Amino acid sequence: MSIQHNYTYEKTLTDSLKINWNVDDLIGGTKLLDFSRPFLPDSLARTNGIESLSGKERLVLNHIRGATYLHLFGLVEEFILPFTVDRAKDGLATDKLRTRALLGFAEEEAKHQQLFQRFAAEFAKDFGTPIEFIGPASAIAKAVLSHSPLSVAILILHLEWASRRHEYLTTWTAPALGSAASSTSFEYARG
Ligand SMILES: [Fe+2]
Repeated sequence: MSIQHNYTYEKTLTDSLKINWNVDDLIGGTKLLDFSRPFLPDSLARTNGIESLSGKERLVLNHIRGATYLHLFGLVEEFILPFTVDRAKDGLATDKLRTRALLGFAEEEAKHQQLFQRFAAEFAKDFGTPIEFIGPASAIAKAVLSHSPLSVAILILHLEWASRRHEYLTTWTAPALGSAASSTSFEYARG
């Protein structure tokens, strides 16, 4: 069975080179999290309809769900990055465009990790109460990477589609960031 598609590494690489951003442009310095505003759109956080909570409690729950959403995408980067680098090494001698496209993707994923860590540090600094997440991420990544490359690739594809779906379903206005930050902050933060 063959899969039909129109994608090429050359086109993917060309498109990716049009996008350039830096972590420092999105978070840190004067770009702080604003805990007076929700972190996630309600289409993802689903807190507005919880009538047993006060408005302030819904806001806190929105913040917690924002932090867990961030952690989840940070967690999956733990296996996406090494998986992508390994695939780049697979074809090192044969296809330079493929190598560049995959290494460019890996570089973006490493940047996402740095971004998530920066957001997480800002959250931990100002949220006031420590919250814990599933993990350790390295152990989960190790378990995922123990499966066949095809199955891991399908999982990563699913995650990419899910993040694009969330982007489609939501209007992102960077609710938790000051006016200096652009709406792309949360788009990148979704991995
Ligand atoms: Fe990512």
